[in-house]
Amino acid sequence: MSDAPLLETRDLRTWFEVQRGLFAKRGTVKAVDGVTLSVNPGETLGLVGESGCGKSTLGRTVLRLIEPTAGTIRFEGRDITALSPSAMRPLRRRMQMIFQDPYASLNPRMRVRDIVGEALDIHGLAPSPSEREGRIEALLKRVGLRPDQAPRYPHEFSGGQRQRVGIARALAVEPRFLVADEPISALDVSIQAQIVNLLKDLQEELGLAYLFVSHDLKVVEYVSHRVAVMYLGRVVETAPAASLYTDARHPYTRALLSAAPVADPEKKRLRIVLQGDVPSPLAPPPGCTFHPRCVLAKKGLCDVTAPALREVKPQHFAACHLADDAPSA
Ligand SMILES: Nc1ncnc2c1ncn2[C@@H]1O[C@H](COP(=O)(O)OP(=O)(O)OP(=O)(O)O)[C@@H](O)[C@H]1O
Ligand SMILES: [Mg+2]
Repeated sequence: MSDAPLLETRDLRTWFEVQRGLFAKRGTVKAVDGVTLSVNPGETLGLVGESGCGKSTLGRTVLRLIEPTAGTIRFEGRDITALSPSAMRPLRRRMQMIFQDPYASLNPRMRVRDIVGEALDIHGLAPSPSEREGRIEALLKRVGLRPDQAPRYPHEFSGGQRQRVGIARALAVEPRFLVADEPISALDVSIQAQIVNLLKDLQEELGLAYLFVSHDLKVVEYVSHRVAVMYLGRVVETAPAASLYTDARHPYTRALLSAAPVADPEKKRLRIVLQGDVPSPLAPPPGCTFHPRCVLAKKGLCDVTAPALREVKPQHFAACHLADDAPSA
């Protein structure tokens, strides 16, 4: 792995203006609100957090599928925050998306051959029909499908096979970076491991980097080199996976981990139950946005001052005033 990050965001914000109910005033949903992160070549950064915390918005913003409100995005060392669509086009090849619902993201009227072939055509990667055919065949094989399945339509495939088609389409343009947004959560549990292992194999073989978004903390631990935990539009903790899973410092991360099932019942965790619901992103609490749900929150501190993300041990960052005091799980 090289030292220079492949993808880097600095203080990235994506806000949405919304109508608060029928007659009420407009409001601002700060879906992503000051995210600084990096993904290195060949690395998987796992992204976790409860529903609505901004994971998908962040994933789509770094690919410039949603316009950022503020901050910067760098890809391969280049600032792409404000590139025009035509300047983005050649970069699109190198940054692709794998979707949660492969069925919704595949055109039902197109044969698999053409779904994958279209990606080649858009970027002029198939100079001749025979080369095009050969590449489609190789891509289908690479994701575990048979070349004779190329003339079929998406509905003729199972969920797992459809996800393989979606992966083949993303790979067709030879990307270096993939945002995988809940790539297995729509699949049968029995199929999930196959797709996760396919993504891991492809990473090893092709040196791909992933931003891997998932609710499933176990899967994220399995696939990620580093993990970022999001809460209400911000990264509240980020660390190498091993450090995050054994020595989480943010009370929110600790609560998420203690809610996740533990495979080995001997390894009981200190249970921290998440109290209450996620606050409305239209009216986030002052201070640390997690303080109303936090068992450790200190009055006069956590409800007043927003904690910055700081390095609590090498490569391990947490945005919590009390991160150093947190008892070990
Ligand atoms: N186009 C939009 N317009 C207005 N609000 C939006 C839009 N897209 C997302 N949001 C809001 O931004 C916040 C973050 O949404 P996002 O989909 O990024 O969360 P998420 O972490 O991916 O959730 P999930 O785990 O359910 O997929 C939510 O409050 C959501 O309602
Ligand atoms: Mg999402």
